[in-house]
Amino acid sequence: MSEIDRYRQETTGLSATAMIRWALSTFGPDGVSFASSLGAEDQVITHLIAEHAPQIPLFTLDTGRLYQESYDLLERTRERYRLEISVYFPETKRVEEMARAHGPNLFYESVENRKLCCHVRKVEPLGRALGGVRAWIVGLRQEQAITRQDLRPVDWDEANGLIKISPLAAWTESEVWDFIRRHDVPYHAFHDQGFPSIGCAPCTRAIRPGEDTRAGRWWWERPEHKECGIHLGESAAGTAGPATTSPAPFGIQEIETS
Ligand code: ADX
Ligand code: SF4
Repeated sequence: MSEIDRYRQETTGLSATAMIRWALSTFGPDGVSFASSLGAEDQVITHLIAEHAPQIPLFTLDTGRLYQESYDLLERTRERYRLEISVYFPETKRVEEMARAHGPNLFYESVENRKLCCHVRKVEPLGRALGGVRAWIVGLRQEQAITRQDLRPVDWDEANGLIKISPLAAWTESEVWDFIRRHDVPYHAFHDQGFPSIGCAPCTRAIRPGEDTRAGRWWWERPEHKECGIHLGESAAGTAGPATTSPAPFGIQEIETS
């Protein structure tokens, strides 16, 4: 039986809380960490970690292009839960080179440029944030996007060579919001203004009634492109194995050799 199959067997039928406890006992406090974007799902997980597994380290990626309201929520979350949330930033040199080569708004020009920006501002810092762990916890849900339909609560993350744990994989949007209201969990101010999903300011906007929940993310792109690169390579078939080489992101060679 593969490692993933064993973990899937151990976690079948577990609640989100039990799954988080399982992650802590299986990988230990040095072997697992939680990536929070401060979105609604992540706030639910932060609450569960604070209540049931506060030894799990938390981190967030500050891309440098976030809304002020995201920083306000980070502050409120720190105050409410008294948890340390490590903040990872992109490498200054890479940002400077990218801005010099492509300008400040490169993401609107092509999918290639957008993925380059996501790589510099998110994927590379994520790699540093995940250094040393065997597994990471995320707030992904199957319902969120066509690119996430095959998500399993325990997946093999090919790109990072790690186990990826999604305790809310099967949750519906209303379950997330019921939880937030019931436990008075702090949440992003923009969720009340038509933003179901919130990322960087230039790449996020409110959705119109009836639109898909991720319609406000990179709204100028087709749905199948709408991943920033930190959630690629899950194996729906469930065959775990060490990553050999990371897939080269579009255009990154330009950055690395310039
Ligand atoms: S994204 O790929 O489109 O940006 P999304 O916003 O749906 O992802 O978030 C999915 C999950 O990815 C979050 O629940 C969180 O675990 C992780 N994540 C996304 N953005 C960040 C971030 N800036 N910092 C830390 N984790 C993040
Ligand atoms: Fe850059 Fe937009 Fe990706 Fe943020 S979401 S890293 S601003 S392309």
